[in-house]
Amino acid sequence: MKFMIKKEHIAMIVLLMIAVLSCMGPKKVAYDFPSTMNESVQKEYLRQCEKGAVLYEISCSGCHTKKSMLSKKIPDFTADQIYGYEIRRSNKNHENALTAETVTTEELGYILNFLMYKKRSGLLHKGTHVEN
Ligand code: HEC
Repeated sequence: MKFMIKKEHIAMIVLLMIAVLSCMGPKKVAYDFPSTMNESVQKEYLRQCEKGAVLYEISCSGCHTKKSMLSKKIPDFTADQIYGYEIRRSNKNHENALTAETVTTEELGYILNFLMYKKRSGLLHKGTHVEN
């Protein structure tokens, strides 16, 4: 008997592939805003964080996101690590990669907001920056 591939089989395979691909696609990042933050302010922060998420992916993830076959973890930075301008100078990699041309001040602001309020991933960034 000849093995026949029926139309239904193809449809099943396509559906399965769509299901698998949709699981692997970019996940929406969740945020932890302080409970005291009112709704309209939260909306504005969410808008900024979503911009920051995209910009982080472009400018920072290459060095900072831990990727494996199955997962992608954005490290948790402490509030002390997420300061402003000094981030550009905090190490040689940053001095070269984070210039005013590659990441504008406005963009850096969105990124830092994103890192501040994104849900914790459990992956702590242990840097050389000493807090005191
Ligand atoms: C070319 C690689 C590279 C890129 C791109 C990069 N970083 Fe880093 N980053 C590093 C390295 C290396 C460290 C040093 C680890 C340490 O703190 O000792 C670091 C440290 C940090 C720290 C900790 C600083 C501290 O004071 O402890 C923060 C926060 C950070 N990066 C944020 C960012 C953000 C935000 C971006 C994107 C705008 C970015 N990094 C892009 C390589 C990079």
